[in-house]
Amino acid sequence: MPVILITGASSGIGAALARHYAAEGTRLVLTGRDRERLEAVARTCRDRGADVRTRSIDVREREAIGAWIRETDGYTPLDLVIVNAAVNGGHPSGGLETEETAFETADINLTGALNVMLPCVTLMSGRGRGQIALISSLAAYAPLPDAPAYSGAKAALLAHGLALRQKLKPLGVRLSVVTPGYVKTPMGGVIKGWRPLEISAEEAAARIARGLERDRDVIAFPAILAAIARGALLVPESIRSAGLHGFRFRNRPRR
Ligand SMILES: NC(=O)c1ccc[n+]([C@@H]2O[C@H](COP(=O)([O-])OP(=O)(O)OC[C@H]3O[C@@H](n4cnc5c(N)ncnc54)[C@H](OP(=O)(O)O)[C@@H]3O)[C@@H](O)[C@H]2O)c1
Repeated sequence: MPVILITGASSGIGAALARHYAAEGTRLVLTGRDRERLEAVARTCRDRGADVRTRSIDVREREAIGAWIRETDGYTPLDLVIVNAAVNGGHPSGGLETEETAFETADINLTGALNVMLPCVTLMSGRGRGQIALISSLAAYAPLPDAPAYSGAKAALLAHGLALRQKLKPLGVRLSVVTPGYVKTPMGGVIKGWRPLEISAEEAAARIARGLERDRDVIAFPAILAAIARGALLVPESIRSAGLHGFRFRNRPRR
């Protein structure tokens, strides 16, 4: 029975991924912080025939999350781990991000992701089998002035993931980095600004699953926005940053 662990499964892309993989003969291990929303996603997945376990936990709790992953993996080895939980940071007025928000964003989006990924790397490389997906963002290539800590964390995740992929391949572990463009989710919903080529969370989940099946190094979408974001790194910074003007945004208050 394939065993799939998804962080940030209580909402948006994580919840859509859980629903995508939910089927008879699949075990899903779902985590998020909001117990009620997490259980609602779990119920839908159980209705589709999946065996579902949930755990409400904050990815910043390194000891607790590591212990839980080792315990879960000891019970049934994890085949696929999707490191997805994140917040978007930024400042509600569009002004400078506060220290508090920047640290919180880095703690969740980068350190929190490593808190999940690294124990999985140890376990999977030890047995020579497994797959990891790191959910980064097109902001990793095209840093957003209104979300510096978010962009920095996503770029670090991209670099860390691609470097690690090379090391893990001979050990039998596959690792992909996912860089989505705009996806309609509660996170996207707090952003007031232009969101070109926005797709649904269901569509994003299907594209991620397809990319993982093919063991893509980078799963980037939509293709045109990904090409622009990746290509923008090659032009002088003054031109790239001027081009980002249309992508300025403000946050609505968080839920
Ligand atoms: N939406 C987009 O346009 C977009 C674009 C590019 C990349 N992404 C990336 O896609 C991923 C999913 O985003 P989304 O749009 O689906 O966002 P979302 O709907 O806001 O969902 C975020 C998830 O992360 C969880 N989470 C946040 N902080 C956490 C913490 N400290 N500990 C544990 N879980 C935590 C949330 O759990 P609770 O709600 O239960 O706290 C929720 O399940 C993120 O990595 C995001 O950066 C999104």
